Amino acid sequence: MRTDTPPTIRLTDYAPPAYLVDAVHLTFRLDPAATRVAARLSMRPNPHAAPGQDLRLDGEKLTLRAAAIDGARIELNPDAEGLTVPAGALPDGPFTWEAEVEIAPKDNTALEGLYMSKGMYCTQCEAEGFRKITFFPDRPDVMATYTVRIEGDQPVLLSNGNPTAQGPGWAEWHDPHPKPSYLFALVAGDLVSHDDGFVTASGREVALKIYVRPGDQHKCAYAMDALKRSMRWDETEYGREYDLDLFMIVAVDDFNMGAMENKGLNIFNSKYVLASPETATDRDYELIEGIIAHEYFHNWTGNRITCRDWFQLCLKEGLTVFRDQQFSGDQRSRPVKRIEDVQMLRTRQFREDAGPLAHPVRPQEYIEINNFYTATVYEKGAEVIGMLHRLVGADAYRRALDLYFERHDGQACTIEDWIEVFEDATGRDLTQFARWYSQAGTPRLGVEESFEGDTYTLTLTQSTPPTPGQAEKRPLVIPVAAGLLDRQGAEVVPTRMLELTEARQSFTFEGLAARPVPSLLRGFSAPVILNRTADDAERAFLLANDTDPFNKWEAGHALTRDVLARMVRAPDTPADPELLTALVAALDDPALDPAFKALVLGFPTAEDVFRTVRQDSPPPDPAEVRVALIRLDTALARLIPDLPERIRALAVPGRYSPDADSAGRRALSGRLLGLLTRLEPDAATARAVFARTDNMTETMQALGLLVRSDNADAALAAFHARWKDDPLVLDKWFSVQAALTPPERAVETVQALTEHADFDWKTPNRLRAVVGSFAMGNMAGFHRADGAGYRFLADWLIKLDPVNPQTTARLAGAFETWRQFDEGRQALILHQLQRIADRDALSRDTTEIVGRILD
Ligand code: ARG
Ligand code: ZN
Repeated sequence: MRTDTPPTIRLTDYAPPAYLVDAVHLTFRLDPAATRVAARLSMRPNPHAAPGQDLRLDGEKLTLRAAAIDGARIELNPDAEGLTVPAGALPDGPFTWEAEVEIAPKDNTALEGLYMSKGMYCTQCEAEGFRKITFFPDRPDVMATYTVRIEGDQPVLLSNGNPTAQGPGWAEWHDPHPKPSYLFALVAGDLVSHDDGFVTASGREVALKIYVRPGDQHKCAYAMDALKRSMRWDETEYGREYDLDLFMIVAVDDFNMGAMENKGLNIFNSKYVLASPETATDRDYELIEGIIAHEYFHNWTGNRITCRDWFQLCLKEGLTVFRDQQFSGDQRSRPVKRIEDVQMLRTRQFREDAGPLAHPVRPQEYIEINNFYTATVYEKGAEVIGMLHRLVGADAYRRALDLYFERHDGQACTIEDWIEVFEDATGRDLTQFARWYSQAGTPRLGVEESFEGDTYTLTLTQSTPPTPGQAEKRPLVIPVAAGLLDRQGAEVVPTRMLELTEARQSFTFEGLAARPVPSLLRGFSAPVILNRTADDAERAFLLANDTDPFNKWEAGHALTRDVLARMVRAPDTPADPELLTALVAALDDPALDPAFKALVLGFPTAEDVFRTVRQDSPPPDPAEVRVALIRLDTALARLIPDLPERIRALAVPGRYSPDADSAGRRALSGRLLGLLTRLEPDAATARAVFARTDNMTETMQALGLLVRSDNADAALAAFHARWKDDPLVLDKWFSVQAALTPPERAVETVQALTEHADFDWKTPNRLRAVVGSFAMGNMAGFHRADGAGYRFLADWLIKLDPVNPQTTARLAGAFETWRQFDEGRQALILHQLQRIADRDALSRDTTEIVGRILD
């Protein structure tokens, strides 16, 4: 057990910085083992802080070579977290701080600060990585201009802003926009660029460059196109123009997260940049589009207006996710995008909110801020903004955003600032609404109905279960979009936004000829769980008739989930014929597009079914959940005539294109191929698809089915031989086996994969492809009754923690649901969690996550 408990940081302890930094000058002399960083900071006392304080600078893993104040050398002894210059050593007014430090990027396996990835130098400074580069007040409310000189023999030397001068072996950059240190970036390496340009609405010419390793240039076109579409969209939808002459993106192979919005120099996990039809799936293209947009949108929501402190992380992340979701909805199909976003919210955020790691969208305290880049901060944070949008309407939302940019440009802000903007722009009192930022947990919405005379009364109730540290919950403002249908399926009351503010509240609808069928929470108007015990018939009716596409899908989804839950509880229950008929009817409905049909026919996840069973029965064995899913799948497959013909009819003619319509057809044909494969013991059709297709989407659909049905040996060998030199494609080879190998052999398979010569465990993408795909994607395999899956995960967490704490802590989240399981499994998981917690020198990241899971 680690002996020192890491300190807790609290929002209520916020104090303004004692000193400000106006300008930063950095000189890097690059060397893998001994990079020299010389820093010159123009500093001054903060007029809004108490005078005469010591100067505290953050610094970690830095070897201090020399320091000076106003040119005079000063001897200082850094501690493990930084150094203190006593107030007595400082002049009264502004002064210059200089320091030269030495760092070793090649030993930086945590991938935070300056590190090396496949021979190139790159940085990741959010949240607190800049302190691993030089001594600095490393907090987002200290904003400065940056001038950077890089000396190194790499052909490409990059930093933020605009290039100002360069020569052989050096380059200088200047970023005129004051920024917090977490947005600093440096890249140096043997890179090539894919170039393009953009003219902003006001006529500014912007050079666009995507830098990749030689050989990858032909995989940048889609990312570049997505970037240009994002730039235009931000102008037309938010009135936001780009503000430098150059915008750069760099793809790196070793990255803890998805991507990073460094000013003018976004750094991306190569997975979210590189794409070609042969190597990327439709899903990859969709993610690239969304993440390129996300990071670009941060230029205004994040960079020009940033966060005062890390508790305000959702100020930039929730808003930027909301914006990228709007963008993707506009570029593709809005209903399909909404359904996908809600599925993701439910699998990741509802799961988090229901367990020991639950926290508010704006947390009150943390030990390691990197642990709070969560589904709650990002996805629920986006939902909160979506609710604001729904409550005030599109026009008022735009007015509020205009005011936000006008009032706060160049500032480091808080959620209070954000709320105040909306209050000022709309005249609404948002005091109660703001509880969404401080109250954790997923609200439950209850429904009671009555019909008398011609009046239909809907009584809604709300309650939120307790979460760690928050026993009492208060009512929230919940926008409930509701419409009413008559028994023939005609819409008698179009969508109306009911504002639920009390614990219990009634809404009446008059002038109705007969009792209507309600369609509630249309478009998933609030991130809540609707506890409506609708019967199967009503769900089938809504699946067939609802005019709201989200609720149409939701009705089918809920019906499928409930049928599956019944099949788990009573294994003799036959696959419900009414459900099957309704699903086939949806498949045959000419009014629905293929992408939507693929979602309707896509079954809930095993975890979703597990949770449904658990609501009123003892925890089931995950293996039995899997059996029920297979049974229903097989029954559906038997009922659909002409599966091979249907699959053929969906084939997209011509060259591969990642557009939404083509992707939708492939999604549906992949689903039908999955059904057909249930009926073919040798998976003949999947084999044929694998052999003949020229795109990665269909290749992975087929390969997944071969793995799932135990027919994959030859295909896996062929795939490996063809793609062994492409790391992103090879990740797919690892991941499909980890996620889809049948549970009886899954642990042995992932064990063997981690012993494979290509298993480079220090690269997060590769590690996640095996360990993450198994623990989060192979429920029955991971939860094998003898605990071998748990031991496998714990072994890897223990091995990885000293190397890369951030990725370790994130993977440890796989254990967050442990109390949902039967006692036997709980005991086995508890044992593994304790084994981890007992390690010496466990990182702060993992200590916090494991501690909270155990609490
Ligand atoms: N701000 C980045 C984004 O756009 C995420 C960076 C998170 N990095 C981290 N180490 N916590 O979402
Ligand atoms: Zn972000």
